[in-house]
Amino acid sequence: MEVGFTDGLRALLPRIILYTILGTLVAWLYHLMRPALEAALSRDYRNFSWVSGERGVGSFLKSTWDVAFKSKELFAEVHSKILGANHDNIHLVPIPHCSTGFMLMVPKQLLNEYVRQPENDISLKRYTLQALVPDYTTLGGHIVAHPVYRSVVHKELYQKLADKMGMVNEEMTAALDDAVASKVGVNGEAKINMWDTSNRILSRSANRIISGYPLCDNQEYGDVTAQYAATFFASALYARFIPPFLRPLLLPLLCRPLMRCIKTAAKHATPIIKERMVIIDAAEQKGIEPELPVSTKKSTSTIEDIQVDRKYFQNDMLSAIIVAAKKDNNSEAEYDPMVIVARMMVLNFVQSYTNLVTMTNLVFDLISLPEGDFETMVADLRAEIKREMDKGDGFSHNFFQRLDLMDSLIRESMRYNPIGETGLERAVEKKGGFTFSNGVHVPQGALLAAPIKAYQRDEAAYPGGFNPRRSIENPEHPKMTDISPDFLNFGLGRGACPGRFFTSNLIKLTLTHLLLDYDFVRLEKRPENVRKVTLDEPCGRHFITLKKRDV
Ligand code: HEM
Repeated sequence: MEVGFTDGLRALLPRIILYTILGTLVAWLYHLMRPALEAALSRDYRNFSWVSGERGVGSFLKSTWDVAFKSKELFAEVHSKILGANHDNIHLVPIPHCSTGFMLMVPKQLLNEYVRQPENDISLKRYTLQALVPDYTTLGGHIVAHPVYRSVVHKELYQKLADKMGMVNEEMTAALDDAVASKVGVNGEAKINMWDTSNRILSRSANRIISGYPLCDNQEYGDVTAQYAATFFASALYARFIPPFLRPLLLPLLCRPLMRCIKTAAKHATPIIKERMVIIDAAEQKGIEPELPVSTKKSTSTIEDIQVDRKYFQNDMLSAIIVAAKKDNNSEAEYDPMVIVARMMVLNFVQSYTNLVTMTNLVFDLISLPEGDFETMVADLRAEIKREMDKGDGFSHNFFQRLDLMDSLIRESMRYNPIGETGLERAVEKKGGFTFSNGVHVPQGALLAAPIKAYQRDEAAYPGGFNPRRSIENPEHPKMTDISPDFLNFGLGRGACPGRFFTSNLIKLTLTHLLLDYDFVRLEKRPENVRKVTLDEPCGRHFITLKKRDV
């Protein structure tokens, strides 16, 4: 009897395997097709305009193809349709890598409405959780969606920013010596890949006040945090194509390199975190403020420098994150070295990639200005730097605030080159959906976004193409940190980027050093950015030439 059963099972086994494979493939295919079916057939989405014109599964699949391979043209079309519709029409656009497979593109005049809704109704957090698949890309949802990032960035990189610029400048000088000066040949020229060079100098300088000393000098820690930042988002994008029931099986494999980065970073960071925890715990018992180690200037530190740094007892983000974890309502889980390491990795991802893209685009835009304009621009930038430096506070926070021409150039470069085609992504959480003031209704579960690149390159709003003096010429003199529906790189409303003030100083610091020490060789043609579906990165293998200045 038992033998018969075993034989029967053995005979059936190939069929069981075949049906399991077929079933899995069908379920996978359904997972990939579901966005097209939902958008085309659900009553919830029947009132939206489609970029391809007709509503239907075939049309959805065609637009999906266009977004993947011709996103520049497709979003230009979205934009012209939104403008041409002449009313507050919302367009449905397939976005293959987002959690729902499509997004609703909102007209400019309605942006302020949805970004100001309560988080429970229109949620940045929900969108972030869906987009980043944190159960696999980090140690769970609480790592990516937590108010600590906003509060710590606001406190450390906005309120205390002025006190930190000395340290950042010191690290920047050393980083530029290593990454640029060391490459200058006997002819006085250095040929550099701007993307790679920006990556090295920006991450090293920023890390001085993010991870702090001594971690910022640890090569392996720096390498794995950079590697994590470079692969985190891409891994999350691929995850969308895997159906939920297969994720526990496949995603740990896909995300293994990310976990390895966290583990290696933890090897270096945990002893430092534990040391600081001992100080915090001892201070708590005594009822006093913890005196955490400060990341003082290494080569030039004086008693006064140390006292300035001591004013806050802690001066890097690592300490701020540890202290916040101790005070968290859920401190039992939060006050754990591994959780703190994972947070630092996410924080580094948030800042490093965006700064890198911004810096590289800026240099490419500057050195490919038309002949004549380029020389005048560089001369004017240097004159501005000199004029403000002569006031005696060069490289300080106040000094950077006064570089209006440089600010205008950076703002224009950002306006012209947003990192992605879309921004202001939010998930509709409100039960029953959300209705805009013009009566347009978006269903619960939908993803809202703005086609920011099309809006920011709109000739009607920004006539005259790329104009580095645009803000100077504008009577309102908008700064690169001023956000509005016309300038969306840093977001809008409650979720707007709290790190933009630091970015403003960091990018200006880098450009000031480069302009003072080197002549840029102008390019006839701006290096092409590399398209990655809806992202637009200046990451090609382009080399630019810098000539050491004799000053
Ligand atoms: C060029 C540089 C940067 C760009 C383009 C940028 C862009 C953005 C954008 C688009 C958002 C979402 C806003 C929204 O949807 O309304 C955001 C949020 C955020 N950014 Fe930035 N960012 C930059 C630099 C930084 C830096 C340097 C930091 C910190 C070190 C930072 C920290 C954050 C944080 C913590 C949030 C989340 C805010 C929240 O969840 O409430 N960013 N950033």
